[in-house]
Amino acid sequence: PQTRAYRAALLHCLADPREVGGEASHEYFADGLLVVEDGRVVQLGDSGSLLPKLAAGVEVVEYADALIVPGFVDTHVHYPQMGVIGSYGTQLLDWLETYTFPAEGRFADPAHARDQAGLFLRELLRNGTTTALVFSTVHPQSVDAFFEAAEKLNLRMIAGKVLMDRNAPDYLTDTAESGYAQSRALIERWHGKGRLHYAVTPRFAPTSTPEQLRLAGQLLGEYPGLYLHTHLSENRQEIDWVRQLFPERSGYLDVYDHYRLLGARSVFAHGVHLCDEECRRLGETGSAVAFCPTSNLFLGSGLLDLARLEGHGVRVGLGTDIGGGTSFSQLHTLSDAYKVLQLQGQSLDPFKALYLATLGGARALYLDDRIGNLQPGKEADFVVLDYRATPLITHRLGEARTLAERLFALMILGDDRAVLETFAAGRSVHRRGS
Ligand code: GUN
Ligand code: FE
Repeated sequence: PQTRAYRAALLHCLADPREVGGEASHEYFADGLLVVEDGRVVQLGDSGSLLPKLAAGVEVVEYADALIVPGFVDTHVHYPQMGVIGSYGTQLLDWLETYTFPAEGRFADPAHARDQAGLFLRELLRNGTTTALVFSTVHPQSVDAFFEAAEKLNLRMIAGKVLMDRNAPDYLTDTAESGYAQSRALIERWHGKGRLHYAVTPRFAPTSTPEQLRLAGQLLGEYPGLYLHTHLSENRQEIDWVRQLFPERSGYLDVYDHYRLLGARSVFAHGVHLCDEECRRLGETGSAVAFCPTSNLFLGSGLLDLARLEGHGVRVGLGTDIGGGTSFSQLHTLSDAYKVLQLQGQSLDPFKALYLATLGGARALYLDDRIGNLQPGKEADFVVLDYRATPLITHRLGEARTLAERLFALMILGDDRAVLETFAAGRSVHRRGS
């Protein structure tokens, strides 16, 4: 077997700090050793005790002034939207029409899709993100392009074809029947292949007919382990529009509920304007919400009330929502999450923040049996963070006395520059500067 050990400070989460409190939520080794064999973690602990026991000939890779953490999990991102990041002056519905739909139209061309998929995955890995739940476009070839690229890198990824059969330009719509048939073909081709999973992906309620939503629910029942990925209650105008389109339903979430789209492995992006009953229903069904603070700020959508969702037992992960969001970096996204929660008197302690970006995300995706932390048996997806990423970070961390302080400052100041190296299934998939 191929065995390698990595020596640096080591930190990973064991539980939600909300559930266990204090030190028990995480495990930290100031001089740690992570032993990886055939793509999985086999041991982690103090270098002092593990190094002498390491079999002869095992290579030890040493990092100075570095912190190893689990690979980041992005629970909501659009790979075809890199080209619209930072588009000026609009909120959700105008932003979709003016910038986003035209950009997605170009993915009818498989060569463009392949090109963008490669660029997108490189960008994720440069930022330390090893797993993501990904929107493609309405074109099946955009899904093939994405999965082909992810498979080559052996990444644990979830994606699916967008379903959209109304209220969008002709060049971006399918029909209830063609969307269903194309989804089935993609599921057969990709779901469960290597580390890949398929997500049934109606864009959001306004762009699907009732028949398309019904068939989405039917698909979920036809194959085990499928995800459901969509948007929910992001923007006030959007919510009013859903009320007009589905007057027979009691609200936005009830539209999805009616078509049997809630449940474990259902992930709803945003959810910033939910009522208590909707939060309760999300919690009761094991559904997850993707918290997308950079996008919710950039598009002026609103502030997510994390405490309320968690109070109802809703699983919450962190999403960049590129290209409504503005950064691929989960560190940067946490910095905005902190500010959004500060505005609501909630704050976000650094261990909870790390949890959201790693184990919490893995739990939201029901993948915590495989990824999310570095316990023996888990897949070896991890990131080496650089305590000397920039002159300012070097200076600020020099002033920090505790791990919590260092972690928090890294989150507030850090981004892709703080990612020295990224590993997926034990293989280096990005090294800064190379
Ligand atoms: N709602 C429907 N489509 C989209 C999208 O592409 N981005 C965001 N942020 N919200 C959406
Ligand atoms: Fe989105």
